[in-house]
Amino acid sequence: MKEHKIIIIDFGSQYTQLIARRVREVGVYSLVVPSSKNAQEIKAMNPSGIILSGGPESVTVSKSQKISKELIDSRIPILGICYGMQTLSKELGGRVASADIHEFGHAEISFGNPSPIFKNIKLKNNLFDVWMSHGDQVEKLPNNFEVIASSKDCQIAGFQSKDKSIFGLQFHPEVTHTEQGTKILSNFVFDICGCKKNWSTKDIINSMIDDVKMQVKNEKVLLGLSGGVDSSVVAMLLHKAIGSNLVCIFVDHGLLRLGEVDEVMTTFQEIGIDIRLSKASNIFTSRLKGVLDPEKKRKIIGNTFIDIFEKEAKKIKNINWLAQGTIYPDVIESSSDGHNSSVIKSHHNVGGLPERMNLKLLEPIRKLFKDEVRKIGKELKTPEHIISRHPFPGPGLGIRIMGEVLNDRIKTLQKADKIFIDELHKNNLYDSLSQAFVVYLPIKSVGVVGDERRYEDVLALRAVETVDFMTAKWAHLPYDFIGRVSNRIVNEIPTVSRVVYDCTGKPPATIEWE
Ligand code: XMP
Repeated sequence: MKEHKIIIIDFGSQYTQLIARRVREVGVYSLVVPSSKNAQEIKAMNPSGIILSGGPESVTVSKSQKISKELIDSRIPILGICYGMQTLSKELGGRVASADIHEFGHAEISFGNPSPIFKNIKLKNNLFDVWMSHGDQVEKLPNNFEVIASSKDCQIAGFQSKDKSIFGLQFHPEVTHTEQGTKILSNFVFDICGCKKNWSTKDIINSMIDDVKMQVKNEKVLLGLSGGVDSSVVAMLLHKAIGSNLVCIFVDHGLLRLGEVDEVMTTFQEIGIDIRLSKASNIFTSRLKGVLDPEKKRKIIGNTFIDIFEKEAKKIKNINWLAQGTIYPDVIESSSDGHNSSVIKSHHNVGGLPERMNLKLLEPIRKLFKDEVRKIGKELKTPEHIISRHPFPGPGLGIRIMGEVLNDRIKTLQKADKIFIDELHKNNLYDSLSQAFVVYLPIKSVGVVGDERRYEDVLALRAVETVDFMTAKWAHLPYDFIGRVSNRIVNEIPTVSRVVYDCTGKPPATIEWE
């Protein structure tokens, strides 16, 4: 299955990962590499085809990123999208200039010379709808190229070489607004690059299991299982691949949701996975005593987690590997930040533990996007309540309690959070949200219950919708629903006198409050 792959060269477009996902969705493995990788390195990866992403730069500026002539001459099929088309054009002797009219958004395309990349694209009134986003455009074709698509404001909206498999599109086939964009990508991948399908859920699982078996052989693997989607899917996969040679540790830091410890333990025990619970809430709360600063809290929780995990791991004999639920967006080498560096989120790289403990690192899902992890999880029969779970931050309720993390505050928050989440499930709203939770505010507010005056806690409800968690909209939950949750919280938890709803997007706010 590794034979056919499409390489996406990243020139910094916000859509680069989307191109990779679309190629995988049509059934072929794809990976993203930074534009700084040289031609030999890329050729050594033996791609069936190359897609050049869009990007924010202008090829008219001398230091802008470019496609190397060596790759263009390599006879590997190439598709340049937006900036990718412009750099192709420039390197091949065409001319790119800033357009009089910048096209952003919807545009209509008509065909020029026939092209295999538009095979079976259906036209309405001789046009089809695409999504444009560009200031520059190709004004003069490279030698031996011809126009295959035009829009009202962009004469050369698509070109192709007359004798090589090189194509350029000024519009974005990867975004859903380009109707039939997936068809265009699949024409490139199958008809032009000659790829065979190799990226179905079953293919991926089989290949990952083979890889794990080959790497690990008969050795034992340790996994820190949090009950989140990524580590749970890794557990299911490793259980299938190596059975009883997988040992999981679940650290209860006391900052989890109500009932979560029992739920996670029972779920994985029933599957037959060797999961060991480390009850460590006391040490976490004692180390968090008097700490108010959010970043300090994060550090303390992270470091304490590592201490506990290491201590527990030492109790298990003959472990050689440490598995982690790192996924593709965490490891992708990206040029969009201008550094071409590998970005690994620190919370995934459990504090340099593999080196410290002298363990080999196993990252079986590091090639997968989040939606692929979920699909694979389903195929591996990971329980639905785990797969469809909202993400939960490593520091847990520690960063949802503003100010000092105290035991009575944890208890109040756990109870309120359970009411909110239960009501979301009951009203079929949970799956429409990306994340929902309650936040504890360290202030008191006056209330009246019956004839009695209360001076108690204030809680905030937070619910957001997002695709990538980089930006998010606050969810417009029905007023009646919010009212019901608020009533239940104030009535059922005597230490709460008031509930508020957070109506701030990201930006300007973040999703978590700390
Ligand atoms: P923010 O608050 O930055 O959150 O908008 C974006 C996403 O990241 C999660 N998050 C964390 N996850 N450790 C984690 O494992 C952390 O320290 C952390 N802080 C935020 C947050 O829940 C949301 O899904």
